[in-house]
Amino acid sequence: MEYPTFFLLLSCLLPFIYAISISGRRNSRLPPGPYGFPIIGNLLEFGPNPHHSLAILSKRYGPLMSLKLGSRMTIVISSPDMAKEFFQTHDISFSSRSVPNAVRAGDSDKYSIVWLPAGDRWRKLRRITKEYLFSVQQLDASEFLRREKVQELLNHVSQCCTDQKALNVGGAAFTTSLNILSNFMFSLDLAQYGAESTQEFKDAVCALLEAGGKPTLPDLFPILNSLELLGLSRKENVNATKLLTIFEKIIHERLQTRSDSSSYDGISTTNNDVLDLLLNLNLKNESIISQNDMKHLFLSLYIAGTDTTSITVEWAMAELIRNPKKMEMARSELVKVTHNNNRNIQESDISQLPYLQAVIKETLRLHPPVPFLIPHQAIHDVDVQGFIVPKDAQILCNVWAMGLDPNIWSDPKIFMPERFLDVKIDYKGHDFELIPFGAGRRICPGLNLANRMLHIVLGSLIHKFDWKVVGNCRTQDIDMEEKFGITLQKAVPLMAIPVNL
Ligand code: HEM
Repeated sequence: MEYPTFFLLLSCLLPFIYAISISGRRNSRLPPGPYGFPIIGNLLEFGPNPHHSLAILSKRYGPLMSLKLGSRMTIVISSPDMAKEFFQTHDISFSSRSVPNAVRAGDSDKYSIVWLPAGDRWRKLRRITKEYLFSVQQLDASEFLRREKVQELLNHVSQCCTDQKALNVGGAAFTTSLNILSNFMFSLDLAQYGAESTQEFKDAVCALLEAGGKPTLPDLFPILNSLELLGLSRKENVNATKLLTIFEKIIHERLQTRSDSSSYDGISTTNNDVLDLLLNLNLKNESIISQNDMKHLFLSLYIAGTDTTSITVEWAMAELIRNPKKMEMARSELVKVTHNNNRNIQESDISQLPYLQAVIKETLRLHPPVPFLIPHQAIHDVDVQGFIVPKDAQILCNVWAMGLDPNIWSDPKIFMPERFLDVKIDYKGHDFELIPFGAGRRICPGLNLANRMLHIVLGSLIHKFDWKVVGNCRTQDIDMEEKFGITLQKAVPLMAIPVNL
């Protein structure tokens, strides 16, 4: 059934059922929210940018709001206090996931660390990521690899300088993130600057992200899930399968190489990457992870880690190009730390770069890459400040709205990294006014890796080059429109011309 036919049928019934809806809400202990029609709920109040629409509604109904997306009960939170209630006070109760239909493609709901409910399987994957993948030791040991990939980015940008060619900043940052992750995981590059295969990979990742952010009919009306009438997730299935097949092949090739040159106990540290580490864990019986779990873990890390990082770099660059004085301040700090440009920026420099840190915080405040976090779900009925959040309700935390709240930030629409210089606010999940990585049990496990990647990639781009916008466009006229999905992309990709310093 097509969307228009579906909604036409519904519209005939609307006047009759609206009255029932109003009396239903009046009698409940649900958080306040707009009256909605029973079947479509509040769908008509959404627009192409739901983070904007919900921010406007929460001004009227408050930071704890309930509404219906189709038949799905949705709770929207939009203040630091409320985020603390949900992700600290009642964190366990809200640690499950509301799974969009599109991500059921490739069985991600059954195997992915991102979408699994907070049970044993999820806990095991979280422990593996915390203890083995993103521990400080593992990140320190793989620093050389990120340095190498950043150098390749700088070489590519230098070539653009020589050719006087504009750089697609987000595209180049995506290639860098992808290669940092694929070398961290498999010791190989999956992408090349400007190559079509990279674009294909990016398209598959973006399509999965976009699909995850847009509700389909079965998301709005879960009863349709079982009917399989719509065949909606076929496209997502193709993309998920494409990526899973790449990872399966890589795992098989590694197993083959290991069996060809195996030591007596099969343990190998030849590559010393995540794949070696996981295969060795299995051999040592420390933490058994099946090949199926492995490929889903790789898929989750790519989807969660590439686009988020590259769009943050792109937004930060767009803000800095629009604010040349702030670009200059960040650069002069970098020049000082690298002893008058005697060397490239390193991860160990980050703690001595307060202005660059403030630039990243300010970018994540204004352009949180995951504007609603990833939807949580209530495990049972929970009493929050006298209201009932019902079992199975999906929870959206509007971090985008929190970043623009004038009660929290002065001049919230202005890009002003300085606001973070004298206050100890960080995005590690303790300061609830700034939680672009989430907070509590479901906080982003890749936070420390992302933190390092963001600083060295952005820092290197502004340390080594100045940037001009294409054509006659004035810097302040750079298009800053957003495109909504699970991640908040820049609608018009930033094209900028690097100039050697
Ligand atoms: C700027 C970069 C990044 C941002 C802003 C970001 C943000 C987030 C957010 C908001 C969540 C959901 C938190 C919640 O639901 O409460 C999340 C989850 C996740 N992130 Fe990140 N992330 C980034 C980079 C990364 C990287 C580099 C990786 C790994 C390579 C990664 C892996 C994950 C995973 C696996 C999850 C799911 C965790 C779970 O459900 O238990 N992220 N991230």
